[in-house]
Amino acid sequence: MTASRIAVLASGGGSNLGALLEHLDTVGGAAVACVLSNRADAGALARAQQRGIATTVLDDPTDGAALLAALAAHDVGTVALAGYLKMIPAEVTRRYAGRMLNVHPSLLPAFGGHGMYGARVHAAVLAAGATVSGATVHFVDEVYDRGPIVAQWPVPVAPDDTPATLAARVLRVEHVLFPLAVAAVATGRLTLGADGRVLGRSALADASAFAFGTTADLPGAIGARLP
Ligand code: GRF
Repeated sequence: MTASRIAVLASGGGSNLGALLEHLDTVGGAAVACVLSNRADAGALARAQQRGIATTVLDDPTDGAALLAALAAHDVGTVALAGYLKMIPAEVTRRYAGRMLNVHPSLLPAFGGHGMYGARVHAAVLAAGATVSGATVHFVDEVYDRGPIVAQWPVPVAPDDTPATLAARVLRVEHVLFPLAVAAVATGRLTLGADGRVLGRSALADASAFAFGTTADLPGAIGARLP
């Protein structure tokens, strides 16, 4: 299969975009064709422009037809949400079912859902007294942070953690897990079955990442070297 072209949607600084670009520079096989944002001042757009990657500002993030047109204009086959804070219109999540991924800075389904983003997630983890947090990459459906889980990586919570220190520790593992998952989907090695099962997680094995989900196609739980 020829690798599909990737679109990245981001609202913020774009460190996950940067990690994805660096990963693809190393492994090849797929490329980011465009970066889209709901914010003209998003740092992710600047990162893209520095690399000569096409960028688009979405004037109306609720306009599904416009978003589909922007994705089609770049012949996009895989969509990666990297800190994108707007809801993806349902017609877009349906069109890209099994080909749209999101990264979330907690172990979903815990500490996810509408309004749970950025420091709010980590503050909620600390307020709950959780001793483990982590990163989740999942397929996107019509409900915030609910789609089938592709992979997760646990991160310890330190007794003296603040939202900022926990966020930094989780972000480090996001920067490993997210690019591997996006590259695996873009190259067809990881897919979403018609029954909602995630197939091909072994493509992530070299991340030493824990991958949870509804299927047993894992070669056993893979110990992660916690950073
Ligand atoms: C990350 O923590 C990601 O999990 C969440 O938004 C943040 C984006 O950070 N969805 P960055 O813009 O990629 O640095």
